[in-house]
This record gives sequence, C-alpha cells and structure tokens, in this order.
Amino acid sequence: MAQLKLSTQAWTSQTIFILAAIGSAVGLGNLWKFPYITGENGGGAFVIVYLLCILLIGLPILIAEITLGRAGKASPPQAIANIVRETGSSKLWVLLGFNAVMGGLLILTFYSVIAGWGIAYFVDSLFGVFSGMNADQAQQHFDDFVASPSGLTFWHSVVMLLTILIVVKGVRSGIERAINIMMPGLLIILLVLLGYATTTGALGQSFEFLFKPNFSALTTDSVLIALGHAFFTLSLGFGTMMVYGSYMPKDYSIVRASLWIVAADTIIALIAGLVIFSIVFGNGLEAGSGPGLLFQTLPIAFGQMTGGWFFGTLFFGMVVFAALSSAISMIEPAISWLEQNWGFTRRKAAWTLGLFSWTLGLGSVLSFNLWKNVHFLQDKTFFGTMDFLTSNVMLPLGGMFTALFVGWVWTQQQRDGESGMPPKWSNLYGVLVKFVAPVLVFVVFVESVT
Ligand code: PFF
Repeated sequence: MAQLKLSTQAWTSQTIFILAAIGSAVGLGNLWKFPYITGENGGGAFVIVYLLCILLIGLPILIAEITLGRAGKASPPQAIANIVRETGSSKLWVLLGFNAVMGGLLILTFYSVIAGWGIAYFVDSLFGVFSGMNADQAQQHFDDFVASPSGLTFWHSVVMLLTILIVVKGVRSGIERAINIMMPGLLIILLVLLGYATTTGALGQSFEFLFKPNFSALTTDSVLIALGHAFFTLSLGFGTMMVYGSYMPKDYSIVRASLWIVAADTIIALIAGLVIFSIVFGNGLEAGSGPGLLFQTLPIAFGQMTGGWFFGTLFFGMVVFAALSSAISMIEPAISWLEQNWGFTRRKAAWTLGLFSWTLGLGSVLSFNLWKNVHFLQDKTFFGTMDFLTSNVMLPLGGMFTALFVGWVWTQQQRDGESGMPPKWSNLYGVLVKFVAPVLVFVVFVESVT
C-alpha cells in the first residue's frame, strides 16, 4: 500500500492552537459585518437566532472540521483521501478537500482588498486625517479612496505581502509568532475601547439596540443571513479549521478547544458591536448605515470626539490584526496541499499562491471604480460575484458535506474517539451532524442561490 502523505508540522501548545483558530474566526466578519447585519435585522431578535445557529450548526461543524483535519493529518484534500482510504468510502469525497482549498484562496482575493482599506484607515487615523471631519467630508474621503485603482491596489498588495511573509516562515516561526503578537494586541485594544465606550454615555442605548429583541424586523431572510454569518465567522467550510486541526497533537481535546473558539468569537463580536454602537450613538450618529458603518460612519465619530485620534488609530489597528490573522488562515490549506502533494517548498507555495490571489484580487479592486458597472454573475460586480461564489455556494456546500462525511462515513466510535466527545453529548452530536446541520445548511444554500 502506498505511503500516506502526512503533515509534519505541529502546534507548540493547545493554547496556541486555540488562539490561532480564534485569530482565524475573529475577523472583518466580527468587526464589520456582525454589527451592521444585527442593526438591520432587528437587534436582539437577530442575535438570538444567530446564537442558535452558532450552537446547533456552527459548533458541531467546527468540531467535525477540526476532527477531520486531525484524523487525516494532512492538507484538506489529502486528509480526506487518507480517511477515505481507511474507511473504504468513495473517492468522490476528496472533492470536499478541493472545495476547501479553492474556497480559502478565492475568499482571500477580496478579503485582502477590504483588509487593505483597514490598513489605509489605520494610517489615515495615525496621521490625523479624520480630525474634525464632518459627515460630507467622511463620505467624500471614502468615495475618493475607493475611486482610485492604484491606491486600492497598493493596500491590497500590502495585505497580501504581509500574509505571505508570515506564512512563508511556517507554523511555528510564522503563524504562531504572528498570532502571539496579534491576538493579545487585539484583546487589549478591544478592552481599552470597551472602557472608552462606558464613558460615551451611550452604552445603555447600544446595549438596548443590540439586545432588545424586535421580532418584527426579523424576516426569513434574516434567519438565512444569521446562518450564513455563523459559518463565515467561524471560518467553516474552507478547510481552515481542518488544516489547523491537522497540526494538532492527538492529546488535545477538540471539543474543549471548539467551545473556546466559539465562545471567544461570539463574545468578541458582541463586545465589538457594543463598542461600535456606543461610539456611533455617543456622537449623535445613526446606526443603520449598513456596510459603510466602519469606513464612513466611524471616521466621523473619531473626527469629532475627544481623543478621536488615539481611539480611531487603536480601532483600525484592531481591524488590521483581526483581518491579518484571518487572511493567513485562508491561504494555509492550499499551502499545505502544494507542499505535501506537489513537492513545493513552503516558500515557493506561499509566493505562488499569494501571487495568484493577488492577481485575482485586482478584479475586486476594479469593482469599486473602473469596473463598477461591469457585471459578471447577473447584476453582480466582480467583487460581488466572488463573494457570492464563496460565501453563498462553496461555503455552505463545504459545511454541509463536512457534516455528512463525519456523520455518515464514520461510525459513532470513530467520530467520538477522535474528537474527545463526552458520552453524554454523543447522541445529540450525532443527530446534529447527521441530520440537523446538513438539512438546515441545504435549505440556506437553495434559498440563497435561487
Ligand atoms: N472568520 C473570518 C471573519 O469572520 O472575518 C473570515 C474567514 C476566515 C472566512 C477564514 C473563511 C476562512 F477560511
């Protein structure tokens, strides 16, 4: 029998694995998307549905994905191939691994563009560009910024370069070192900002906005958005958690780690929401500004409030940490695949894949200016098409088949033995991965593509 191809890297400790996975999970999704979709979908009512999605679907699939990675002990396609060989199941399952590798790379192409906005705004804030800005000026600043293909390309390149420079050094000297700086940094900044939020006099209003349920604003669409976001925010369906799991030694409990990851991701999203809305309301601004919340509304607040330079710079610094620690996790599945299956050195793999994602990302750069009116899929720009293909197609398909694979290909003993599932939760977990998660994800998938 041919030798199984296995990953040779390993995390130094259980804690660093958990931190890296939290780094992947906490990103633009938490700081940028969660607050505004919550605002648009009924505040507390949406948060309740979102928490249910996280617990009933997100958590079981997260456990499933990490378990597959550790059991297969290789890049996503190879990990699945290894398990398929052991269980004698269909080779078609390997497609799940390819979906993961491609999905991560494609999402990186446009995530890097938006992360670039974060770095640009960090630099702007540092140099006092927002100081004294009013609403019209903030709008104009944003419009001018996205209208420039060369500017956006520059910041997109900075993000891609930083991502490559981190991953090129490998798991211990690259990813772990970056995570050891970025995650404590992110947490400290978030707490400082929370401290500031308590002084705005708007924390109560912000609390009410986020937690008081308004069920009339909750539509079927809101439920779909909540489930889609639960996936995105936990970095599911793209092999990230699988590849991070493949570097995890056998004696770590996957269930315990997953609970930490889910709790941290959720708590950070909620605190970020509280902070953002306190700053917005505290400065007499409106919350319902949709996707512009971070890059149009907040700069007005930072421009007007006392200490705006300091808090604005901290805030965008936090956005950069969150986005970069997610970006490195998007490229890692493909890197490990090129290394293990195609004999690439890590250096060659990182630069090749980085260049690929950078080039494709140019399409997203242009979507905000020269190609603004060029449509690819139906009425979607290049950026919109990439977002749709990854978030609405590849991600739910990846998540659904991950659950099905773990639920149906493995026996209960195999599943529970690898993940360290306590016996009292075993049956519930089985029902969730076999039926509940796949069915609900399938419904979301059909709804969102039709
Ligand atoms: N979880 C990240 C966020 O909330 O911004 C996004 C993400 C990271 C999605 C890694 C997918 C992925 F593989």
